[in-house]
Amino acid sequence: MIVDKLKVALRKSRARGRFVGPINALNRAHLKMKEAKDRRLRDVAMASLDGSRPDDVEGLVDFAMNGAGGFFQPMQSRVEITELVRLVRARQPRSVLEIGTARGGTLFLLTESSAPGAHIVSLDLPGGRNGGGYPEWKAEIYRKFPRGDRRLSLVRGDSHLESSRDAVAALAGQDGFDLIMIDADHSYDGVKRDFELYSPLLAPGGMIVMHDILPNRFDAEITVAPFWAEVQRRYPHTRELVEDRDQGVFGIGLVFPDGEQAAATR
Ligand SMILES: C[S@@+](CC[C@H](N)C(=O)[O-])C[C@H]1O[C@@H](n2cnc3c(N)ncnc32)[C@H](O)[C@@H]1O
Repeated sequence: MIVDKLKVALRKSRARGRFVGPINALNRAHLKMKEAKDRRLRDVAMASLDGSRPDDVEGLVDFAMNGAGGFFQPMQSRVEITELVRLVRARQPRSVLEIGTARGGTLFLLTESSAPGAHIVSLDLPGGRNGGGYPEWKAEIYRKFPRGDRRLSLVRGDSHLESSRDAVAALAGQDGFDLIMIDADHSYDGVKRDFELYSPLLAPGGMIVMHDILPNRFDAEITVAPFWAEVQRRYPHTRELVEDRDQGVFGIGLVFPDGEQAAATR
């Protein structure tokens, strides 16, 4: 509790441009500790993907949240991500793009929920520990996510660059991606850039998923909410998966440029 309050205070301070250097140094030390813990769990994580996996949605979400000592833990509300997994399972996308993979939690769930034979593409920063993204050694583990004839491509790059968009576009199916999840740079400008660069890659009848759409009470650097409000004004078919309007964090926004039922009839 005290640690959480301290984190909020430090983020607020950094957002105001105060003590930026020391706060970033603390953050780097924290990330280093987290990676050391992950390294200790590497074999457990590998083995957990070799065993049988739950078939039911709750079981899958539980695996992502708590399996292998929380190695894959999605940065999501359990209620919201469970609802998303149900929806993805019903829509059976054949091509999926995730922008922002981090610990692999949502990548795992999207991979498990896609159609047999689906191609899933992840785009994240190339940096590793301090530069964002995930360390290279985790790629070997993520490559174990797809079962059967599903395929996974891991692309490393800054999503804001046209070269990254082009690399990802080359991996899209003939029609584009049935599902695009935007969960990377959470600033207003960053999320807007991702939306504008990647939404043209959406297949007819596809769905865009955006994360952290609620005004964030804990991190002043997360400013997706005003962009989400613009998206809602621009597109007639949107939906929100929100556990509690007052939670002050998270929230999933869905955009259906061709209407929510479009994919089902394709
Ligand atoms: C909140 S995490 C993603 C969480 C993940 N979707 C989950 O819930 O399991 C955000 C990720 O986006 C990545 N990211 C941030 N800015 C990015 C950018 N410009 N290009 C690519 N990836 C970016 C970060 O490196 C980080 O891994």
